[in-house]
Amino acid sequence: MKRNIVLIGFMGTGKSTVARAVATRLDRPYIDMDMLIEEREGMKISDIFAEKGEPYFRQLERTLTQELSQKENQVIAPGGGIVLNPENVSDFSRTGLVICLVADPETILHRIASDTHRPLLERDGDKMQHISDLLEKRRSLYEAIPLRIDTTRLSAREVADRVIALSLG
Ligand code: S3P
Repeated sequence: MKRNIVLIGFMGTGKSTVARAVATRLDRPYIDMDMLIEEREGMKISDIFAEKGEPYFRQLERTLTQELSQKENQVIAPGGGIVLNPENVSDFSRTGLVICLVADPETILHRIASDTHRPLLERDGDKMQHISDLLEKRRSLYEAIPLRIDTTRLSAREVADRVIALSLG
């Protein structure tokens, strides 16, 4: 069995697209944590936030992290807020290679501009401002992850190439 590959990073840094590509190329199972949570709860992430609250969602993420980090061979894309509980990152690091994808705020805005399913960015006001504020609040949490790939000027395929190279190295 091979250790997990876990792609952490802010919304719009390419986690899901790249993780799916890496999983296909390495012929490994792809796990999108938000999708799995939606399936198990029978609710969209935005409805979970609206009806049950963010702490409830964070607890679901925590429990799922504990479950997934006990298995191997998977390529995992957690939601962007997984770093809010540093125990999630240490759990994933025990059985997996944890890589942080980063991108500049303009690129993030561009990539998620047409999406409406991210409750933390759907508040009134300027989306760019929400992105910058949240990035700033979480900066030290993302920076604490030593392996990082700046995806700003790379295609998903190029990012996947780098992730695979890191996983082989
Ligand atoms: C969140 C990111 C989202 C999703 C939820 C909260 C966050 O996932 O888990 O909306 O706190 O950054 P993506 O990073 O896949 O958009």
